[in-house]
This record gives sequence, C-alpha cells and structure tokens, in this order.
Amino acid sequence: MPEFFINGKAVQAADNQTVMQAATANGYFIPYFCWHPALSVPGNCRICMVEVASEGQVEGEGWLDIACNIPVTQGLRIFTDSAKVRARRQETLQFITLNHPVDCGICDKAGECKLQDYHYDYNGASSISIEAKVHATKHHDLSSRIVLDNERCILCTRCVRFTHEVSKSHALGVQDRGDHSLIREVGDGAFETDPYSDNVIDLCPVGALLSKPHLHQTRVWCLKPTPSVCPGCERGCGINIWHRKSEWQLRALDARRNARIDRVTPLDNPAVNGPWICNKGRDLAQIFERARATQAMLKGRPTDLAQALTAARALIGAARQPVALVSSWASNEELSAFKQALGGQMRCFVKPDSQAAPGELLQDDLLIRPDKNPNTAGALQRFDALPADARSAFPADTDLVLVWGEGFSFAQLPQQARVVYLNSYLQPENGHADVFLPISVQTERSGHYTNFLGVSSAFSACFQKPQGVADAQALFETLRATADQVLA
Ligand code: SF4
Ligand code: SF4
Ligand code: FES
Repeated sequence: MPEFFINGKAVQAADNQTVMQAATANGYFIPYFCWHPALSVPGNCRICMVEVASEGQVEGEGWLDIACNIPVTQGLRIFTDSAKVRARRQETLQFITLNHPVDCGICDKAGECKLQDYHYDYNGASSISIEAKVHATKHHDLSSRIVLDNERCILCTRCVRFTHEVSKSHALGVQDRGDHSLIREVGDGAFETDPYSDNVIDLCPVGALLSKPHLHQTRVWCLKPTPSVCPGCERGCGINIWHRKSEWQLRALDARRNARIDRVTPLDNPAVNGPWICNKGRDLAQIFERARATQAMLKGRPTDLAQALTAARALIGAARQPVALVSSWASNEELSAFKQALGGQMRCFVKPDSQAAPGELLQDDLLIRPDKNPNTAGALQRFDALPADARSAFPADTDLVLVWGEGFSFAQLPQQARVVYLNSYLQPENGHADVFLPISVQTERSGHYTNFLGVSSAFSACFQKPQGVADAQALFETLRATADQVLA
C-alpha cells in the first residue's frame, strides 16, 4: 500500500490505484469529465490536471499531469489547487467552451451539468476568443429514445466507451476530426436496439444527450429522488424514482404531474446492478401509471372498502378448502404479514404476476433476467411455487381462491370456488370476483424485495395512495382478526 501526499497531507493508496482513484477514495475532489470509475481511461478532457512534484520540490516547482492516468507511487507529491493547476483548469475550460453554445437557460441538464458547475468554480470569465463559433447539429435523433445536441458535446467519449465496454452494442462512435468531430450512431440500428442505451444520458457530463420523453418537461431542481427497486425483473436493480418536490407542487397547471414519475435513474448498488439499469427500468411510469382500480366491488357492484372486507372475511372464515395465489410483486413485509395472518389456513402458492412482453429481451450477460417479477425469491422463501399445471394446485373440493396481484387467468380457477381478488389496476377480472379489494402499488408503500441472488433491497414510498385503496398488509391483519373469530 503506497503512501503519497495530497496538498502536503499523507494519504494511503491501494496497490495499482491512480491518483484520481486514491484521491476520490480519501475524500479529495479533483474535477473530471471523461473519467468514470466503471469505464476505461481515455485522458482526453484534461480538466483533472494536478501538479506533480518529486521529493524536495515544493508547490509551484512541479509539472502538470492528468490525475486520472497517473499511477500512485510511494512518496509522490500531488497538489490539486496550486496556482499552476488553477491557471491550467481555466485555460482548459476556455478551450472546452470555445464552440459551446452556452444555452444553459434552455438545457435540461442545467442544475446537474459538470460543465456549468466547473465554469463557475474554476473559470467564471467570458470567452477570450474573438472567432465565430463553429456550429454543429443542434438536434440529432440518436434513437427513438435519445436526442443529441452536438454543439453541447465536449467529446469526452463516455457514451462511446459505454457502448463498447458495458452494453457491448458498439453502437456509437466519433465521426470526423477536430472541431468537426461528431458523435454518431452506427448505421445498423444497434443503438436503437441497445437495451441499456439510456445510461449514456446519465453518463454525459453535459446536456448533449437527453431523454426524448422527458425533453423540456421539468427542471431538475423541482424534483427529488426516492430510493427504490426496479420491479422489471428478478435482478431488482437499485433505482431512484424522481418526482416533484412538495415545494414545487403545481396548483393551477396539471396537478396530476405532482404524483407522476418524472424520470428513473440508477441507484448504484455494487451487489446488484453497479451504476447501470436497463431501459425497461427507465420506463416504470408505463407500469405504475396504468389506470388504477380504486373501487371495492362485490360481484362487480361497487361497495365501500369496509363492506367488501366484511364479505371477504365471511368467505375466508366459512371456507373449508381455501387456496391462495400469492403475488411475486409483494414485499417481504407483506408476504410475512400474509403468512402470519392467513398462511396457516390456506394452501398457498407463489404465482408469477408478470411475464416477458412480446419481443422483450428475456436474458443477457449484464443485468436482464428471465423472471420478470421482483420478489419471486422472497415469496419462495415463505411459500411453494405454483405448479406448471396451475389447475393441479386446486383440490377437487376447493371452495375459495384468494388471488393476490396480476397475471392469473380466472379461466383456470375451479368453477365452484368463490373468489377474493386483490389487485391495483383496472382489469375485467376485477368485476368477476365475489369480492374485489383495490390495493396500493410499490410507489405508494415501503418494503423490501429479495432478488435472485438473495440480496434484499429496500424501496420507499413516493406518493400517497389514491382514495379507496388499501395497503395489502393492513388488510391481512384485519382478515386475520375475523378469521380467528369465525374459527372460534
Ligand atoms: S455526447 Fe456527452 S457523453 Fe458523448 S462524447 Fe459528447 S459530452 Fe461525452
Ligand atoms: S435489469 Fe431488470 S431490474 Fe434491472 S432495470 Fe432492467 S428490468 Fe429493472
Ligand atoms: S478526467 Fe482526466 S483527462 Fe478527463
């Protein structure tokens, strides 16, 4: 473990670390554009310049080099904020912004743009150039999901390296040279079909790569992230769900935007997904913002939740051969509550709530997994799996089936059985159940999922549940109380 010095203080580095890695690990900040901890080191942006001095040299006597590519050696002396470093950073920023449009006022990246931040921190001066700016494409459709503004691009090549080193689609490259250089997609459509393409939006340190669905929708400072787990497959990637802050709630304008998912970004979890997610994880609004079921029903007739619960209690209490089909989208907390309340009096099976959509990628070597449910592992820790022939789960005298969540065709239910159905979305089956109970979705409650590797991850509520909707966990406790009474 070599020891070296940053700004005169002794710092321990791990073997083979660069100055950037060791400095970052020890809490020192060195600015960077092109460097990323999970990508190769091209050393092209030059903003991470530090002063390097050998033994006996003092600050100001050393030479300048890029921190992202200097290996730490025993006794190395680094200055991150010397007069030499400050002057070179300012020159570098002058160079990088030479042809930049500086259209921060209309850029979605404003508020989280490294170029904007570093300009204020290390430059702050107007351009010294008297030459006209070289213009480039302002709006290039990189794919159906992503738009590219070449004038904002600083050619750090993070996006290119991502497609070569991580997603392996090899779908982006740099075309032409010098100030005519352009990021472009390869012509065979590989970027369009890259299931991880949206990661380049986060990777881009400036506002050159932007999400089309979110283009000019909101300012990032109006949003806040809630940590969550993607339910799109059994990987259970860590995500941040971004939604409007309470102090930025819309009143006169469309109030529905106060309770919608504005964007989804990765939440770095080395044990699960690292810093990446797939595009399905970005599109969670398409799952959670489907038409909701908010009305309790008895055989399709609207009733209030209390009456529906009373009816469900009576059916469960009277059943002699009840079967439960448990949701693989339920949290561990809900599953435990169900097991404690009703597991002892029903044959319980875990069903898949969700299957791969037509054309959806089933599996790959990076993140995407074939089981498109987030908590199959957590559910199987508590209950048996539904047999491949679902009908074999029902004894001939099954008189009640409790179905929890989506994905099970009512055509497979025993004809004589009464049905209690818990679901969150508007579906025809809701009206066919003897009792229908509308329940909350993941974004309205907190809990944990266990992924296929056995890693448990937490998710938190972002929104209030709609009126008329209950948390499944609370329902089970209510049902248990009365089931006990009925049995007594
Ligand atoms: S588009 Fe963004 S990520 Fe790609 S090279 Fe340009 S600045 Fe870097
Ligand atoms: S790999 Fe699976 S869990 Fe991860 S973002 Fe994609 S769908 Fe979601
Ligand atoms: S971060 Fe070191 S050269 Fe770009």
